Amino acid sequence: MILAASPLRVKARLEHSRAKHGSLSGHPRIARVVASWMPFYEYGEARIFKAAGAPDGVVEQRRADFVRLSDLYRRRSPETMRLTAEATGLISDLQFTEAYRVPFQFSSYVRRHLPVGAFLQSSSGVATTDLDGNSYYDLTGSYGVNLFGYDFYKECIDSAIEHMRALGPVLGSYHPVVADNAARLVHLSGMDEVSFHMSGTEAVMQAVRLARYHTRRSHLVRFSGAYHGWWGDVQPGVGNPAPAHDTYTLKDMSEASLRVLRSRHDIACVLVNPVQMMHPNSAAPADSTLVGSNTTPMRPDRAAYADWLKRLRAVCTERDIVLIFDEVFVGFRLAPGGAQEYFGVRADLVTYGKTLGGGLPIGAVCGRKHLMKRFREDRPADICFARGTFNSHPYVMAAMNEFLRRLEDPAIVALYRDLDEIWDRRAAVLNKRLRDAGLPVQVANLSSIWTICYTRPSAYNWMFQYYLRAEGVALSWVGTGRLTFSLNYTEADFEAVAGRFVAAAEAMRQGGWWWEGPLASNRKIKRRILREMVTHRLSPRRAGRAPG
Ligand SMILES: Cc1ncc(COP(=O)(O)O)c(C=O)c1O
Repeated sequence: MILAASPLRVKARLEHSRAKHGSLSGHPRIARVVASWMPFYEYGEARIFKAAGAPDGVVEQRRADFVRLSDLYRRRSPETMRLTAEATGLISDLQFTEAYRVPFQFSSYVRRHLPVGAFLQSSSGVATTDLDGNSYYDLTGSYGVNLFGYDFYKECIDSAIEHMRALGPVLGSYHPVVADNAARLVHLSGMDEVSFHMSGTEAVMQAVRLARYHTRRSHLVRFSGAYHGWWGDVQPGVGNPAPAHDTYTLKDMSEASLRVLRSRHDIACVLVNPVQMMHPNSAAPADSTLVGSNTTPMRPDRAAYADWLKRLRAVCTERDIVLIFDEVFVGFRLAPGGAQEYFGVRADLVTYGKTLGGGLPIGAVCGRKHLMKRFREDRPADICFARGTFNSHPYVMAAMNEFLRRLEDPAIVALYRDLDEIWDRRAAVLNKRLRDAGLPVQVANLSSIWTICYTRPSAYNWMFQYYLRAEGVALSWVGTGRLTFSLNYTEADFEAVAGRFVAAAEAMRQGGWWWEGPLASNRKIKRRILREMVTHRLSPRRAGRAPG
């Protein structure tokens, strides 16, 4: 029996190996080992401006412009900086995000001299304003929540407070808006039932739990690099202190992965985060890992991704595997019916979050009836337990109701018209301006979700976030890897942002950061960093400081 089973096991192992992406994001366990091996070191003052070698003149040019930016930041926002410095030691999340804005070798020096204010006092239109009255065009998108503009969400929240004044924060029983929300979500998602949760992470947890319960299988499949929140099972590699034993990480858009889905018997569900079509098999680009450049701008291919999703759908149907679309980020953004509508593929369960809450915290699962059920008629003790004190909180439900109702407003309906054409045209216009100016920066986009690509190798491309900020453009802590526009950006707003983009890139060029020397190739930059790491690993006494 053992002998008979072995060749099958070997075949399954081989198939699984072929379905892993070659990068570390395809090998979460190895990535964890590598992460634990990586030594800390940082560049001293002399090395900060000379990371990939540069003549003294260029080094001085960079240093002088860095000092200019540092002065500008401090002069412009003294109160914002004061409170940020005071509160950072008390807020763990802030310490984390501040430490990971730029590659770690530069991080503490840059934090000391170019601190980014963490506090704001107001928002209006497409701008936010810091404690010193400085306004910034907002490209953070509040992690994707801000789809229709901050004023829209303020109105949703105001209306919710008004609506719930009589009931207040009563939990357990429902306000009638809950029933209306459920009916609207069922209609929009094309599903049969809804469950409400408190965050996107929770919605994903519940969708996977239901899939495991109904299939009686153990494993979830996620694709390399995909983010599905911070729950352990969907984050099997770096970031999670414990290994996730019941997770397979497979190659995105790959026949080899479909073969694994066809042959294994332990797969309960497949999770898809459609934003991955912008960077299949890689984690979302972030400036903290931007050590060279992504010289070929990414070109998201909607037709190819739709075709992949259709093939994935067919295999899941054939194998009774639950197909989960995680639309926490893209839901309502790509189309009113989200990714299902945009790509023309139906999932079995869909998770939503972020913008759906009308500005308040939310997670939701929509799904087919047989998958949403949390108990078995014939086994009363065999239940799939999922509750949560704050589920269906009246204020959240009322803000959501306002959000869902407003989707039918003619002004909102109009925003969805020609959505991709508008954002693709804006990206093309900006790219032409950057190209015409001979600047080594381009953008790539999936509708209103953008990323910046650098066409010239440089150890300093991450500096662009600081030049954009100096021009009054605010990005989230991941920097230039992910820009999220709200749909209320008018042509004039966009034109203003485009002008600031070009000005920021021009200033960065003037600062000498794109000087191209003999070491300026991605390969050489990466090799140099690897050498530094090995040196620091092998000689712990040098830990902390890089030479120079
Ligand atoms: C696709 C996706 N799933 C899940 C989550 C987690 O949502 P939350 O941060 O609300 O827990 C996110 C958050 O960015 C997300 O983008």
